[in-house]
Amino acid sequence: MPRITYVEDDGTRHVAEVAVGLSVMEGAVRNGFPGILAECGGACACATCQVYVPEAWRAVTGVASEVEADMLEFAEHVRPESRLSCQITVTEAMDGLVVHMPASQG
Ligand code: FES
Repeated sequence: MPRITYVEDDGTRHVAEVAVGLSVMEGAVRNGFPGILAECGGACACATCQVYVPEAWRAVTGVASEVEADMLEFAEHVRPESRLSCQITVTEAMDGLVVHMPASQG
């Protein structure tokens, strides 16, 4: 299973093996990691599952859809590398992925 590292704003790292087909958000929530609230349960309607995807991984994770980009406008601490982690479906190619969580979700 792909190993994904979730990094809190204070640098604390959490690593999980996340099944292909789950979302990056589900990987964090199912393991009880802090930093991803996911209040809407993955419906792209809350923007509390924001993560920062490093440049090197953006070709693998893809870019935000129009709906996702609209929802990100309601999030705090948005950066160009922001994504909603419920909208990133895990693939084998994401083994080694590192995502960072914004301070606002700490
Ligand atoms: Fe609500 Fe991702 S969990 S937008």
